[in-house]
Amino acid sequence: MDNIKGIVLAGGLGTRLYPLTSVTNKHLLPVYSKPMIYYPIQTLVEAGIKDIMIVTGGNNAGDFLRLLGSGKDLGLRHIEYAYQKGQGGIADALRLAEDFADGQKIAVVLGDNIIEKPIKKFADKFRKQKEGARILIKKVDDPQRFGVVEFRNGKILKITEKPKKPKTDYIVTGIYMYDSKVFDIVKSLKPSKRKELEITDVNNRYIERGQMHYDKLPGFWTDSGTFESLLRANNLVAKKAAL
Ligand code: G1P
Repeated sequence: MDNIKGIVLAGGLGTRLYPLTSVTNKHLLPVYSKPMIYYPIQTLVEAGIKDIMIVTGGNNAGDFLRLLGSGKDLGLRHIEYAYQKGQGGIADALRLAEDFADGQKIAVVLGDNIIEKPIKKFADKFRKQKEGARILIKKVDDPQRFGVVEFRNGKILKITEKPKKPKTDYIVTGIYMYDSKVFDIVKSLKPSKRKELEITDVNNRYIERGQMHYDKLPGFWTDSGTFESLLRANNLVAKKAAL
């Protein structure tokens, strides 16, 4: 089975959470008993991915080093940090991880995605997958906020980023697994209307090549980049802790 390296994306300005994010990075805010970034790191560690890179940016980048240090306390074998200048989007942040990936497969987790159940079995499927990509999808009540999935004959036909009229309730969560070709794809992208390199465009390239696989994520999933979703994340994690 192939090795997978992990990348946690923790950049951006977190503008949807102002003023909570005026003096700190969104991913350092609390979600119940831990800083937000602990959860995506735990997602990777539980999947057996212990060699990870944190991509961050803005004024508080140094705080990640202070918080996470060598990563050993969180069960990591190795941690690296990269600094993203500006607001180039998720796919732009990925570019900074090319040397770290070193030709191996990668799993990317958005730093504000909080999940309930381990993803180890899906990571194992990807370890055995010959090539291409694998995403985890989820049925939600507010698909228009996300990358929305359309299907044909059980396969993903395309993904549309934040459509006004979503065609399904299935969205792409911020957990993405890619082979090493992802970096060539990222280099060929053009900025979107919101002036970012979109991860949805990366995923659509894999779909066009017939190399996109997916699994439905069990348990709860939420992002935590808005007031409502941050509150939801806190409540879901608190409820889980009380079990
Ligand atoms: C991003 C992606 C979107 C995905 C979501 C998951 O959205 O662009 O496709 O569904 O993460 O959290 P953003 O957080 O940039 O609004």
